[in-house]
Amino acid sequence: RTVYVNGEYLPETEATVSVFDRGFLFADGVYEVTSVLGGKLIDFDGHAARLERSLTELDMAVRLHRDELLEIHRELVTRNDIEDGLVYLQITRGSDGDRDFVYPAEDTPQTVVLFTQSKPGLADSPAAKKGIRVISIPDLRWDRRDIKTVQLLYPSMGKMAAKAEGCDDAWMIEDGKVTEGTSNNAYIVQGNSIVTRELSTDILHGITRAAVLRFAREAQMQVEERAFTLDEAKAADEAFVTSASTFVMPVVEIDGVALGDGTPGPVARRLREIYLDESR
Ligand code: PDD
Repeated sequence: RTVYVNGEYLPETEATVSVFDRGFLFADGVYEVTSVLGGKLIDFDGHAARLERSLTELDMAVRLHRDELLEIHRELVTRNDIEDGLVYLQITRGSDGDRDFVYPAEDTPQTVVLFTQSKPGLADSPAAKKGIRVISIPDLRWDRRDIKTVQLLYPSMGKMAAKAEGCDDAWMIEDGKVTEGTSNNAYIVQGNSIVTRELSTDILHGITRAAVLRFAREAQMQVEERAFTLDEAKAADEAFVTSASTFVMPVVEIDGVALGDGTPGPVARRLREIYLDESR
């Protein structure tokens, strides 16, 4: 694989980052994941805009222009022959060559890393046909979840807890209400209504979420942006999650409770179809 590190395209085995990098020592960095379908980047502008926001919220300078970023994404997709897959981008605060809680000087070079992951057939994953099963766990993350930082240990632990119970993912709960999935936004369907938590610092402002809600409204579906409880979720007609890597993924079971008949619901299936049709 060819990867991008600080202005250079290199074989992955030759790419290096300092051991003092604050991304490594302090999880002081942000990231984006953009999917690729048929060689085309999906929702690139949304990811670029959110990246700039994440950097700004952490007092990190925006040094790469959107056009340059797009160019790097395209170059990696081409060089690595990615038909379906993902482009991962990470920008950290870099380092002045020592470990220090205090940020390095403003003009310290940031560390910019991008790489691709090939995932043939990403859009027709078997999981989407079966739906996924989730468990609930308390949301123990910090309270700036709107910033897409690389602090992903807790979400990773959540996934492991789900796997240990033979499930696929975890939904995180705060004050009895669902915040989001470990790496996706969460939705339930009650009758005609699609319910998903409103935007705030409690959740990541999903790029897929924005697109899916727009398509839902255009298709005259009813959307309610409000927090919903775990109990409501278990009693819902259907549920699903959205993210750049899963698009719209039906959820068929929560904490062992089957939703509807335990198969992907019609609203989730339709939204997945619309999303894939419209974004490709
Ligand atoms: N995760 N919520 C969280 C906590 C996330 O980590 C993600 C994305 C989302 C969905 O955002 P988007 O639709 O912009 O991908 C919501 C990425 C895919 C990841 O960590 O791999």
